[in-house]
Amino acid sequence: MALSIKLVRLKSPRSVKDPELSKIAAQSSRGPFTEHHILKIDRREVCFLSYDIRHDRGYLVLSEMFVPKELRHLGIGVMSLLVSEMFTIRQGLTKIILTPSPLDREINKTDLTNWYKRHGYKKISGRTGELEKTVLTFKVNKIFS
Ligand SMILES: CC(C)(COP(=O)(O)OP(=O)(O)OC[C@H]1O[C@@H](n2cnc3c(N)ncnc32)[C@H](O)[C@@H]1OP(=O)(O)O)[C@@H](O)C(=O)NCCC(=O)NCCS
Repeated sequence: MALSIKLVRLKSPRSVKDPELSKIAAQSSRGPFTEHHILKIDRREVCFLSYDIRHDRGYLVLSEMFVPKELRHLGIGVMSLLVSEMFTIRQGLTKIILTPSPLDREINKTDLTNWYKRHGYKKISGRTGELEKTVLTFKVNKIFS
């Protein structure tokens, strides 16, 4: 049976039922370009995502991503990256930028950086710690090469 996968924009952290995700959502900062989202699989809240949507610069900043501890290592992180790419394309943007920064002690910065690199993110030359992935070029290459 097909899974139902939904990215839901949060209006308030109070609408998040999962206690870990609710806490992260409440702590997460917001600027003028920020949107907070929850990824749901079969209606279960599985990941918190914070995006800075920079139409003025042509890219999306993935500023926070958090999977509850008991749901880690099941592929939800990878699924969240893929959904973020689709969201970026839907916004008419071509690139995702992020700075790997562990939000808890379960993963260290090197492992987190390598995890993003395994999923197509590359170091931005001249910018300390920042990684980027060009989403549209990647999709087109995948289809036609
Ligand atoms: C970083 C984070 C989002 C990853 O989430 P996740 O759901 O555990 O990620 P995944 O399960 O997709 O991938 C993690 C690893 O689990 C393993 N894994 C994935 N699916 C698996 C499965 N079905 N069975 C066993 N192991 C699996 C793999 O080693 C995978 O690494 P790979 O994709 O390079 O092979 C999560 O650890 C987290 O929320 N950390 C705290 C918040 C944080 O620091 N966020 C980063 C902010 S920049």
